[in-house]
Amino acid sequence: MTLYMIGIGLDNAEDITYKGLRAVEKCDYVFLETYTSKLHCSVKELENLYGKEIILADRDLVEKNAEEILDKAKDKEVAFLVVGDVFGATTHTDIYLRARKRGIGVSVINNASVLTAIGIVGLELYKFGKTTSIPYPEENFKPETAYDVIKKNKECNLHTQVLLDIKPDRNMTVNEAIEILFEIESKRKEKVFTKNTMIIGCARLGGNYKIKYGTANKLLKEDFGEPLHCIIVPGELHFIEEEALEMWQ
Ligand SMILES: C[S@@+](CC[C@H](N)C(=O)[O-])C[C@H]1O[C@@H](n2cnc3c(N)ncnc32)[C@H](O)[C@@H]1O
Repeated sequence: MTLYMIGIGLDNAEDITYKGLRAVEKCDYVFLETYTSKLHCSVKELENLYGKEIILADRDLVEKNAEEILDKAKDKEVAFLVVGDVFGATTHTDIYLRARKRGIGVSVINNASVLTAIGIVGLELYKFGKTTSIPYPEENFKPETAYDVIKKNKECNLHTQVLLDIKPDRNMTVNEAIEILFEIESKRKEKVFTKNTMIIGCARLGGNYKIKYGTANKLLKEDFGEPLHCIIVPGELHFIEEEALEMWQ
């Protein structure tokens, strides 16, 4: 039958599109991918609006046991829900390709993504370079990838969107991310992310958002409230972009 891959938007249950809702309503199984992003509402609220029971799909189920989802889609209608947009995270092309290889019809229903919702800050989306992310550091795992990506994008005068780690029990805040980048700066001393670097902190885009533009040192002390958060490090600014950023100072 069909695997419906449906983006459900950024904020709450009501962000699903009409097309997405119609598809969910005819599905026999509804999976919700739970590890690349989070909605600002409970699973119960989704179930109430959709009139369907939701099966939570963690990283293990999606990446290691995707066959469980695909087996069902062989002769039933299956929805695979992704917060934001379907391909806004790096991981879902695999399940799409595997479904097609097995002769399962796949229907993709798009929605808003954090990758474009950042347009609200007033920076031109076309002038963003590579997107990067910051994981929570561990004993033997302290990657500096985000620092390197910011550096390379800056060299090309491009803006950088920095996505922040999500764990089942905690979500990285703008403040935590700034501390991690300061730590890398104190080691590398390449003046890529200093106390005076102007950055934009964003929380809950697409919903009850908070956006602040200022030095990294100033935003370190700002309370951005509920998750999810991300950071933008601007590259070269056009005067219209500069004017837009003043709104958030
Ligand atoms: C893998 S990305 C999101 C992918 C999602 N499928 C999409 O298209 O938006 C997850 C990260 O984006 C950021 N993020 C997601 N939603 C956000 C929001 N509404 N406001 C601010 N940051 C957000 C957070 O840093 C989060 O850890």
